[in-house]
Amino acid sequence: MKAVIIGATGLIGTELIKDLLSDERYNKVVALTRKPLSAHPKLENHIVKFDVLEEYVEISKGDHFYCALGTTIKQAKSKEYFYTVDYTYVYEFAKLAKLHLAERFLLVSSQGANQKANIFYPKVKGEIEEAIRSLGLVSTSVFRPSLLLGDRKEFRSGEEIGKKIARFFSPIIPLKYKPIHAEVVARAMINAAFKQVDKHKIYESNEIQMLGK
Ligand SMILES: NC(=O)c1ccc[n+]([C@@H]2O[C@H](COP(=O)([O-])OP(=O)(O)OC[C@H]3O[C@@H](n4cnc5c(N)ncnc54)[C@H](OP(=O)(O)O)[C@@H]3O)[C@@H](O)[C@H]2O)c1
Repeated sequence: MKAVIIGATGLIGTELIKDLLSDERYNKVVALTRKPLSAHPKLENHIVKFDVLEEYVEISKGDHFYCALGTTIKQAKSKEYFYTVDYTYVYEFAKLAKLHLAERFLLVSSQGANQKANIFYPKVKGEIEEAIRSLGLVSTSVFRPSLLLGDRKEFRSGEEIGKKIARFFSPIIPLKYKPIHAEVVARAMINAAFKQVDKHKIYESNEIQMLGK
């Protein structure tokens, strides 16, 4: 099997790439990135321009497409660019999966994704989920993790506050709303890639926790 991934340098993506490379069911992992990854015999790393993803049809052949790409409004500096990254780039990647008749497209979305939301972030996440569902891919898996835990190099104040609040209320927070480790999300994605029976499935954070144990 061949996996194709975008977002491989991020918090979830780093865990995903590690697991994909050590998983014997995959003989090749194709990562499309902006920065080079460490070399590995199974890894084919292409430095690409994400605004012309449609030009990379030949190098993006694969069976399972993993998308862990995303930005923040702070990094993107505008709602327009946030939309370009979290919607357009993701959609273009899904179109490559469709072209190759990939067996599975796996998307990291977010808890609360809702195309009818009044708040920009969950609305964009809901819109991309819906766009991908309507694209007519062979099969899709959408993951809606809650606040991510893991070794992030960059400091994000919102995440740190969220983690402190979650730690304080931990005993009474339902599993669905508990922060979740990036490595658990990565494991759940790979498990879903091989186990999922449904053509289209959304995994809420509590389901990701169970699947990624
Ligand atoms: N943070 C949370 O608590 C949380 C909770 C639920 C869901 N999510 C969602 O989960 C997904 C993954 O989150 P994460 O925290 O693992 O992400 P992350 O660490 O911020 O990594 C994001 C990935 O997207 C790439 N990326 C960002 N902007 C890009 C651009 N303009 N062009 C090309 N690539 C770009 C990054 O590449 P570079 O290394 O080249 O920048 C990196 O590989 C995101 O969609 C996020 O919205 C996050």
